[in-house]
Amino acid sequence: MIVLVLRLFLLCVCVIVHYANGFKCGPDNKCECKQINKMSSEMNCEATHVKLKDMCDSISQKHNDITILNAGRNNIGIPKANDTTGCRNVSSLNLKYNQISHLEKDVFSPFANLVRLDLSDNLLPLLNTSLADFSALPKSLTALRLTGNFRTYENWSFDFNYPNLTCLQNLKIVYFDGIQKDFGEEYKHMDLWNVSVGSKGLFGSCRLKEIFGSTFRMLQSVRFLDVSSCLLEVIHKDAFQHLSQLEILDLSINRRLGFSPLINISYSLQFTNIKVLNYSHVYTTFGLGTILLKRDICYFRNTSLRELALDGNRMQIIEANALLLTPKQLEVIHIHENKFSFGLFLLQLACLNNIVYVYASHQNIVHPPINFFAEPLPKNDNNRSRESDCPFMTESNLQLIAKSIPGCSYFTPGKRKLILKARIPKKVKTVSFADSNIAYTDLSEIKIRPKDNSIEELDFSNNNFHYLSGFIGPFPNLKKLSLSRCYCSYLGPKFLNSSSIENLQLDRNYLGKSLSHDIAKTMFENVDTLKILNLSTNRITTTLAFTTSTQFDTYTKRKYSKSLTENSRRLKTDFSVDLRNNTIEYSCDNKNFLTWLVEHKKHFIGFDEMTFVNRNGKHLNAKEFLNQVNHLNSDCISHTLEIALSSTSAAIALTIVLIAVLYKNRWKIRYWYYMTRRKHFGYQRLNNENEEDQYMYDAFISYADEDGEFIREDIMPKLEENGMKLCVHQRDFLPGIPIADNIVDAIQNSRKTLVVISRPFIKGKWCMYEFNMARMETMNKRPEAGCLVVVLLEVVPARDMPLELLEWIKVHSYIEYTNDVEGGLLFWDKLMAAVRN
Ligand SMILES: *[C@@H]1O[C@H](CO)[C@@H](O)[C@H](O)[C@H]1NC(C)=O
Ligand SMILES: *[C@@H]1O[C@H](CO)[C@@H](O)[C@H](O)[C@H]1NC(C)=O
Ligand SMILES: *[C@@H]1O[C@H](CO)[C@@H](O)[C@H](O)[C@H]1NC(C)=O
Ligand SMILES: *[C@@H]1O[C@H](CO)[C@@H](O)[C@H](O)[C@H]1NC(C)=O
Ligand SMILES: *[C@@H]1O[C@H](CO)[C@@H](O)[C@H](O)[C@H]1NC(C)=O
Ligand SMILES: *[C@@H]1O[C@H](CO)[C@@H](O)[C@H](O)[C@H]1NC(C)=O
Ligand SMILES: *[C@@H]1O[C@H](CO)[C@@H](O)[C@H](O)[C@H]1NC(C)=O
Ligand SMILES: *[C@@H]1O[C@H](CO)[C@@H](O)[C@H](O)[C@H]1NC(C)=O
Ligand SMILES: *[C@@H]1O[C@H](CO)[C@@H](O)[C@H](O)[C@H]1NC(C)=O
Ligand SMILES: *[C@@H]1O[C@H](CO)[C@@H](O)[C@H](O)[C@H]1NC(C)=O
Ligand SMILES: *[C@@H]1O[C@H](CO)[C@@H](O)[C@H](O)[C@H]1NC(C)=O
Ligand SMILES: *[C@@H]1O[C@H](CO)[C@@H](O)[C@H](O)[C@H]1NC(C)=O
Repeated sequence: MIVLVLRLFLLCVCVIVHYANGFKCGPDNKCECKQINKMSSEMNCEATHVKLKDMCDSISQKHNDITILNAGRNNIGIPKANDTTGCRNVSSLNLKYNQISHLEKDVFSPFANLVRLDLSDNLLPLLNTSLADFSALPKSLTALRLTGNFRTYENWSFDFNYPNLTCLQNLKIVYFDGIQKDFGEEYKHMDLWNVSVGSKGLFGSCRLKEIFGSTFRMLQSVRFLDVSSCLLEVIHKDAFQHLSQLEILDLSINRRLGFSPLINISYSLQFTNIKVLNYSHVYTTFGLGTILLKRDICYFRNTSLRELALDGNRMQIIEANALLLTPKQLEVIHIHENKFSFGLFLLQLACLNNIVYVYASHQNIVHPPINFFAEPLPKNDNNRSRESDCPFMTESNLQLIAKSIPGCSYFTPGKRKLILKARIPKKVKTVSFADSNIAYTDLSEIKIRPKDNSIEELDFSNNNFHYLSGFIGPFPNLKKLSLSRCYCSYLGPKFLNSSSIENLQLDRNYLGKSLSHDIAKTMFENVDTLKILNLSTNRITTTLAFTTSTQFDTYTKRKYSKSLTENSRRLKTDFSVDLRNNTIEYSCDNKNFLTWLVEHKKHFIGFDEMTFVNRNGKHLNAKEFLNQVNHLNSDCISHTLEIALSSTSAAIALTIVLIAVLYKNRWKIRYWYYMTRRKHFGYQRLNNENEEDQYMYDAFISYADEDGEFIREDIMPKLEENGMKLCVHQRDFLPGIPIADNIVDAIQNSRKTLVVISRPFIKGKWCMYEFNMARMETMNKRPEAGCLVVVLLEVVPARDMPLELLEWIKVHSYIEYTNDVEGGLLFWDKLMAAVRN
């Protein structure tokens, strides 16, 4: 039932596809017509409920160039001679699934040149010799399909024979349902080229369990024999021996067959002209892995086989040395849907010296369990004997074969000589290993041998190569590489090292980040030949490093944007990149890349489908993008200017504030600076309980050198007379220590700092420094007592005074020096008191 539904479904799909590029025609425009060439057209009226007569009338009236008519699935019943008169020029007629149970004698007589007739899936009593009458069929027929007419027979067996078609002397191609019967003597005189007994279409069936030498013996000119989807279990040694013209043999989908009959098949194929053998799906979907033995394929060595299909056979291992026995001319091998594991055979691949195409996708895949119930009981023939009397698998012959092929080695049974450098067949051009659940987290360097291999196309899409860091190759002739859907997030810079690659498919990965990274710059350095680069669906949001580089390296930036442009120029319009399904960031930061995009717009596959997303998360389609991107330049300039301006002004404002703060606190900062320095690097007196002992000097006298005389002659003697210890820079400062430190030390080590203000003092750099430091000391460390004593030696105009000094004088008391005697006495008293205090 499921199979039936599936077939119906497929049929519908086919019909839909078929209708795709035609025009309406026929009765009530219910059919679909399609021009085939200048002379002829095709009319498809399948499943339209149009009467055969109406179709043919319409053809003769309106479309007399129609040569192909599909009238399938129209419930025609029994066609009448009058119905088909209009179709007399039709050369190919399809009447399948029309409930036809009987053919009237002259129904095909109007046809002048009917060549192909499809009567499959009807109710014709083909097997009842007393009913089947093929005299009605036109003699011109070369191809006749009768599959799906045997379903009316509950019991197939025994009394029935393949229909007697000897009257159709031009027949070359014929399709039957398969029965367990030999083709009769009458077929000996026919010249059939293509014969199918496999079950096909809606109701086709094949109940052929065993192929004997006699089964097809009469089909002596057959070139193409299809025994697929039968219920085959046994094939005898002489099954195809007499079919010397046989080129293509299809034994696929016989799930009870297994590999054990292969020795019989290969034996009998020695005597044919075999080119292609389809031995796919000869096991059930579920079950143990299978092994292909030397004996199975031994006789193939002596055949002319070019193409071998072994898809879906749960193959896990090939016996060691078996590959030495593959047919000499084998060029194409299909091994999809198997589950190979490691075995010595993998080290003998080089022995397949004439292989050109390897199709090995869908390894290790998971199948829907529903198949389990739809299929027959599984066969396990893994215990079959490994021996045979096939003359080609002797040890000496295998060694001989190994010697004759470079890189091919023979494994002596029992000994395991491991050659770890696997070699690939020298002539192989195409390898497909897609959808195979191959997983490598970090695929680093892989050296391919031989170096001068012929690989042109590699398809490893839909596997799991998370991280492709190293060099894999060399592939001196590689043209196309597909790594689509490989969960790949990193490609190393050395990964692409090919001087010949033209088509690189990297779509549906996670390469966005890695391609925007600087490391990707070198990536396409050696790939001048590239014509197609597919990077769609890669989470690319910003710059691709190899196209433009916005940062750091203007040299490489130029180089790369140029190198891609160069590519496109050299290849005229051939170069194309696919960046669809990436949400590319539309922003000023990405400006160079966007400009590059627009510049090379015509090189993008599906540019119209590209999407962009701006800073606010709004998506732009290609059209909106193109509209806006013109303004991008000016937008970005004003934007940058704005930023630049605002940042400059902000910086200025900040600086001003900072300077103001710094200026205002400059003495504080200096003071603290020196205090900190002193604390960490200078010496410091231990704090003593005794206040008196805390200071080395009673007073540090700060004065301008110009006033030195007055200080030495008057102040110092007067104070020292009174037993005071004074610190004077000329006398007490330690040499070798910076003045600033000396000053701070002096202030720190003196109970008071006596500042003698005069005009020169105000101008002196160190003088004001001393004043300010003393001021700070007072403010920060000795607020109650104070340590600064200001002496005004002469009258200094307020406008000449530094602000700090002016402020200090305004708030604090100071001592004014005078020359007159009375004032002089008072001055000395005051001074003495201030210093002592
Ligand atoms: C058959 O084809 C010939 C030309 O080859 C044409 O003259 C004639 O009308 C056609 N007949 C019909 C019934 O279409
Ligand atoms: C065929 O059609 C003609 C008229 O078009 C009619 O006279 C004749 O009886 C028909 N023959 C059959 C067998 O229906
Ligand atoms: C073949 O057809 C004849 C006539 O209709 C019928 O009597 C006979 O039973 C049929 N034979 C089989 C095996 O169906
Ligand atoms: C079909 O075969 C069964 C036995 O296998 C038999 O009983 C039955 O009569 C047969 N039917 C016909 C129509 O031959
Ligand atoms: C096949 O049919 C032809 C006539 O079309 C006849 O001469 C021949 O004897 C038949 N062969 C068999 C084996 O029935
Ligand atoms: C018939 O067989 C040949 C190979 O011998 C093949 O090329 C051709 O496509 C086949 N035709 C049909 C209709 O199957
Ligand atoms: C192989 O052929 C021999 C002889 O014809 C036969 O006995 C045997 O059953 C065949 N083996 C298979 C597995 O079909
Ligand atoms: C090889 O095949 C040929 C026919 O192509 C045959 O005559 C010969 O016997 C075969 N060799 C062996 C050893 O079977
Ligand atoms: C082999 O047969 C299978 C199933 O009939 C089919 O899908 C596949 O395309 C065939 N392979 C070749 C190479 O003909
Ligand atoms: C393989 O095993 C099956 C049963 O599982 C048995 O019938 C058959 O004889 C065995 N064949 C060989 C060659 O041992
Ligand atoms: C590319 O591969 C060749 C051969 O392995 C090597 O000599 C060359 O240095 C490689 N180039 C780069 C850029 O890795
Ligand atoms: C983009 O993604 C959608 C949804 O994932 C997918 O259907 C479509 O095929 C993708 N287009 C391309 C060009 O990869």
